[in-house]
Amino acid sequence: MAYTTKKYILFGGDYNPNQWDEATLRQDMIYFREAKINTVVLPVFSWAKLEPSEGQYNFGWLDHILDVLEENGIGYILATPTGAQPAWMSRKYPEILPVDIEGRKRTHGMRVFFCYNSEKYRERAAAIAAAMAQRYRNRKGLEGWHVANEYGTSCYCENCQKKFRDWLKRRYGTIENLNARWGTEFWGRTYYSFEEVMLPTKLNDDCQFFPACELDYQRFKTDSTIACFENEAKILKAATPDLPVYTNISGYIKKLDQFKMVPCMDVAGWDNYPSPQDPRSLPALKLDIMRAARDGESFYVAEQSPAQQNWQPYNKLKTPGEMRRIAYQGLAHGGDSSLFFQMRQSRYGQEKMHGAIIGRAGTDTTRTFREAMQLGRELEQLGARFVGGRTKAKIGILFDWDNWNAMELCSGPSRDKDYLKEVLHLYEPFYYKNVPVDVLKYTSDFSEYRVILAPCLYMLKDNIAERLNRFVKEGGTLVTGYLSGYADENDRCEFGAYPGPLRKAAGIWVEETDGLFPDEKVSVCTSEGITVQADFLCDVIHTEGADPIAEYTSNFYAGTPAATCNHYGKGKTYYLATKFGRDFLDVLAERILRDAGLAPLFPTEGDVELSCREKEGICTYFAINFGRERACVDLADKSYTELLTGRELTGNTPIEPGDVLVFGRKSNSEGEEV
Ligand code: GLA
Ligand code: ZN
Repeated sequence: MAYTTKKYILFGGDYNPNQWDEATLRQDMIYFREAKINTVVLPVFSWAKLEPSEGQYNFGWLDHILDVLEENGIGYILATPTGAQPAWMSRKYPEILPVDIEGRKRTHGMRVFFCYNSEKYRERAAAIAAAMAQRYRNRKGLEGWHVANEYGTSCYCENCQKKFRDWLKRRYGTIENLNARWGTEFWGRTYYSFEEVMLPTKLNDDCQFFPACELDYQRFKTDSTIACFENEAKILKAATPDLPVYTNISGYIKKLDQFKMVPCMDVAGWDNYPSPQDPRSLPALKLDIMRAARDGESFYVAEQSPAQQNWQPYNKLKTPGEMRRIAYQGLAHGGDSSLFFQMRQSRYGQEKMHGAIIGRAGTDTTRTFREAMQLGRELEQLGARFVGGRTKAKIGILFDWDNWNAMELCSGPSRDKDYLKEVLHLYEPFYYKNVPVDVLKYTSDFSEYRVILAPCLYMLKDNIAERLNRFVKEGGTLVTGYLSGYADENDRCEFGAYPGPLRKAAGIWVEETDGLFPDEKVSVCTSEGITVQADFLCDVIHTEGADPIAEYTSNFYAGTPAATCNHYGKGKTYYLATKFGRDFLDVLAERILRDAGLAPLFPTEGDVELSCREKEGICTYFAINFGRERACVDLADKSYTELLTGRELTGNTPIEPGDVLVFGRKSNSEGEEV
């Protein structure tokens, strides 16, 4: 069941009024109403204030803030404050403090600075979660629970060491099995007992030189963090079964396997902090990953910045309209909320330079406030029209955290292996054509898809090769290439050429792979006779039935295929032996789309992102002009209503630079299109 299907889009975000006085709190309420802020998230990190000594709770100040919010009709998501334990707790129970990868026991300090396996931490966290649940479960303003904050620290303490061994025992049963799975014959790493297995750290360098062990440590870290989350979540869930419980996911998503983590939450909550230097495709892809985490369900954008940040090396101001574009991009890709960090700027601390909807000047006349107000009013107008709506895509791109870790832990053939970049690279030619793409897990249902992109499918598990072979045989188009079909779930390679079990479907085999220098390019000639460049890795391949569609023209492997297409069953597999630039991939994407009978949602011109969410048969389109020139979306003879202005749109419709158009057919109160 999706928990996000509310009657409106959540608009607001992190709020810390415990840092200021009553008069400011009251002033904030006026501004919130003005900007149509409907939801705040609090009191993240306020454990020290809520529990000044063990078991002595001090909820009075929070009760008062919640009263004021309710008086003003503003809902709230209550955060358990367990992202930062009080100083007395670290002092009384030093076992809570983490040990870092260099083996240093850390002192009390930072936030999210605790051992996620500490029984004491979990006991105290469960106690305060229970106290909050008990106290606030029936409050009318309560909209959900946000647990702790951005989990993801690693710990290497003795307790984690013991837990890791227990985890391995459960996973492998016997030490002989672990030896076989981890390939400990190599470098004489044979263990005689689980007690000899060490956490992979900088003390033993196994974090760098023992990929099978590090890979399992990352899995263990995710499982431990899930247990830490569930320790609180189950209490909150029991108290308020109808409200969503989640934790916000760091913008840097590699830290934890979110395809394991998010299904344990009621809704994914992702913190979206694109750098102004990122291409717009990167947040788009990450948003699509979040949508995949609960198999297409909508999610929360749990944080984004309304203005300047403080933690980028250079903190550019958000340009006029930029916040609005980012917010709509989040909604367009499946967000049911537009939550921000933060409502009002702090007076002190590490983030005092971080922007907020209400700046320290404390006025509603700032550019940021006025832009937030415009957004708030628009979102209110849009109501629940697309809340809970889904994206309908026929192209899927595979994504997997184990694959991510394993591929990047692998030493060779290039140190520049960056899985997210590789996925983005193959996503972009389709994304920029405004053809919807779904991110797929290895275990997703493939039956609705015509095309599956599988960049760097290094690790094979969950029968993925068998499932892809079947997908192609039954008429699908698969695109894969270098670094695919190497290892099993323990990072063991099989004898036999790559891409392993995909060899037949690809109709090629890989003899060897050249790792190019960072500035090195190879030339490739396409079957249309066009010369293009490629870089990164070059597989030297042999065809076994596949047709070359491009050939290397440089290096000693000149004349051998650089890309192939193989008919297999009713479908086909494209194999990209090297990293082509966008020129080649754009042409290939066009060919694939044409063959599969797929087209962009509407033809567009200019730097415009076009997406669609469908809810109960009603489509809502989002056209976002990220460019500095006027863009167009060609609606041909169709006519739609621009939902924010009521304007009728038809034919070639212009979108001003930086502007957003949200459009669809009008619907009546029963939700039918009219
Ligand atoms: C993160 C945290 C917030 C805050 C913001 C600042 O995402 O969750 O508490 O530190 O970054 O951008
Ligand atoms: Zn620990």
